[in-house]
Amino acid sequence: MAPEPKRVLITGAAGQIGYALAPLVARGAALGPDQPVILHLLDIEPAKQALEGVRMELVDSAYPLLAGVVATTDVNEAFNGIDVAILVGGFPRKAGMERKDVMSKNVSIYKAQAAALEKHGSKNAKILVVANPANTNALILKENAPSIPAENITAMTRLDHNRALGQLSERTGTHVGKVRNAIIWGNHSSTQYPDVNHATVDGKPAREVVKDDAYLDGEFITTVQQRGAAIIKARGLSSALSAASSACDHIRDWVLGTPEGTFVSMGVLSDGSYGAPKDVIFSFPVTTKDGKWSIVQGLDIDERSAQLLKTTGDELVEEKALAQECLADL
Ligand code: NAD
Ligand code: LMR
Repeated sequence: MAPEPKRVLITGAAGQIGYALAPLVARGAALGPDQPVILHLLDIEPAKQALEGVRMELVDSAYPLLAGVVATTDVNEAFNGIDVAILVGGFPRKAGMERKDVMSKNVSIYKAQAAALEKHGSKNAKILVVANPANTNALILKENAPSIPAENITAMTRLDHNRALGQLSERTGTHVGKVRNAIIWGNHSSTQYPDVNHATVDGKPAREVVKDDAYLDGEFITTVQQRGAAIIKARGLSSALSAASSACDHIRDWVLGTPEGTFVSMGVLSDGSYGAPKDVIFSFPVTTKDGKWSIVQGLDIDERSAQLLKTTGDELVEEKALAQECLADL
């Protein structure tokens, strides 16, 4: 017998990531090929008509796993009874902007949505924040939804993680499925630290296979850090299909578990591991089992890496203060 459907909320569902994400979730990319889903799609009043168009297309696609669609501009209805939420709603960065520049518009949305989550969401709901500044939006959500366990609120750095795997795959001519355990530390921003010191390519240390430390310590890092901006420059719009796909990877691994010997990057509440600042949402290497993540412990961190972790941690502390200032000014 098929399991009961799970309710999956996508906010910003009429936007470009939403349009790529809803069909993936409806095909089982987030919760697996045997799990029926009811999609809750939230957007704001000006996007109501476009949202209805998305709902119509989902119905027209006749997905076997799709057990229903709730398309709404009512935040309380959207959060009601959800099992999973992928929070994409917000204002994207445009060319020339840093993610910080979208701060004041977006953190206020996350404060308001925290109230709906607190009131209507299941306490066990798994929440992924995609909208930028993703780590700090997730922190604001956590701080304003105190009854939701902090471990249930995460931010997306899986796209950066996948970008790192993609770069190593292209550089070495190895299929991306054989590249593992790159790490994104810190913020989903240009200060993130994409770390290859524990990565493997076809089972061998990435540094041994790439044989070019100058590239790995230089161009590789900046390419991953700047990939979001490069996509904006190329498309005139921020990444969407890769963001949607990575959001499904994040949820799938969280719910169904990471394969043995593999870790992935997730923005989670920092406990100070590896010298990261506490009480910010910091991207760490994690493994997942039985629906719970744990930070991979005991990795060697050289002096240079420690410095790069500090830079991105400092930015998150700064962003937290800025977000609190923006909210105080409302
Ligand atoms: P978009 O503008 O195409 O769509 C955003 C949607 O959110 C719009 O339909 C808008 O009406 C809606 N929205 C605005 N305020 C809302 C609210 N209060 N409640 C519900 N919906 C609301 O943008 P997009 O390209 O889909 O990007 C969405 C967000 O994701 C942006 O913040 C972008 O920067 C971010 N992003 C993050 C990552 C990541 O890796 N973490 C990757 C790509 C994009
Ligand atoms: C990305 O990394 O593609 C997104 O966060 C969009 C952006 O603003 O860079």
